Amino acid sequence: MINLTINGTEHELDVDVRTSLLDALRDHLALTGTKKGCDHGQCGACTVLVDGRRINSCLTLAVMHEGDAITTIEGLGTPGNLNPMQEAFLHHDGFQCGYCTPGQIVSATGMLDEVGKGWPSNVSASLDGGTELSDEEISERMSGNLCRCSAYPNIVDAIRTASG
Ligand code: FES
Repeated sequence: MINLTINGTEHELDVDVRTSLLDALRDHLALTGTKKGCDHGQCGACTVLVDGRRINSCLTLAVMHEGDAITTIEGLGTPGNLNPMQEAFLHHDGFQCGYCTPGQIVSATGMLDEVGKGWPSNVSASLDGGTELSDEEISERMSGNLCRCSAYPNIVDAIRTASG
């Protein structure tokens, strides 16, 4: 048995120790907003936040995250109460098929938090410092999230809006 805290709720799970966090979320907790694209750390569709940091949930084991605060797309907003990033993606049509969208939104949310905290320390832009992220920097910081439909311009527009 392991205990995972997901979106503020503690869950007791009886999973094999080899179960990825992604499979635990999808197959054992029915939190299917987190998507499985490649299952190899290349697409970002499975992005969740662990203690506020972005990770690919397909690359880590569920058992490694006891005691961590895990946030999935279901924890960011609800259909009747979208968060600002979700609103911005809707407003800017930041998706086509939508499969990568949960990972994009979770990643963008984590990314803006990283920028606000000055992570990594060698970047020039800082929202706290009043410097807007350039489109190039948004693209670079979101490069771990692929969109096979190539909705990238609208995704960048949405993130820029949400960061303002
Ligand atoms: Fe995890 Fe693609 S499913 S990175």
